[in-house]
Amino acid sequence: MDIKPLITADDIDAKLAEMGKRITEDYAGQDLLLVGVLRGAFMVMADLARQIDLPVEFDFMAVSSYGASTQTSGVVRILKDLDEEIEGRHVLIVEDIIDSGLTLSYLMKSLNVRKPASLEVATLLLKEGIQRVPIAVKYIGFPIGPEFVVGYGLDYAGKYRNLPYVGVMGGE
Ligand code: IMP
Ligand code: MG
Repeated sequence: MDIKPLITADDIDAKLAEMGKRITEDYAGQDLLLVGVLRGAFMVMADLARQIDLPVEFDFMAVSSYGASTQTSGVVRILKDLDEEIEGRHVLIVEDIIDSGLTLSYLMKSLNVRKPASLEVATLLLKEGIQRVPIAVKYIGFPIGPEFVVGYGLDYAGKYRNLPYVGVMGGE
């Protein structure tokens, strides 16, 4: 299968620097906890965090995604919960991509009941106009089309996460 480059490593770097700067300004003087959604967000988390000039803390959650299919199942399972208590803390969820929005919407509901001081989302990619639930996303890297993308943390059947760029899965 071919992979057509869509967003270059340089463009990702520049965008994360921009997002990091905004986050640094928005959360200045506040206690910020970054929550990465495994496994896909590990690269965004590592690179975005280095662009945030604040004493942030880190935590991770793991949720089930599509399995080996490229279609959303609408079923979300928490495979690993947070290690930290978030009550009264400013929480920023870091995501690789928002597609149907079902994963995030479920996550936000389950984190909101723990009463964080604030709960926002930063995502590198957002598939435009196809969310099945309304979600407010404060920091969006790149709005993209509905096509299935891989690389920079995103996988197809477990592969391609290590590509330094984001590409579109080609034809057969
Ligand atoms: P959603 O619940 O439909 O928003 O999708 C959530 C998860 O599905 C993402 O965090 C990814 O792990 C995965 N996903 C959605 N779209 C893509 C894609 O184009 N490529 C790779 N993974 C994707
Ligand atoms: Mg993800």
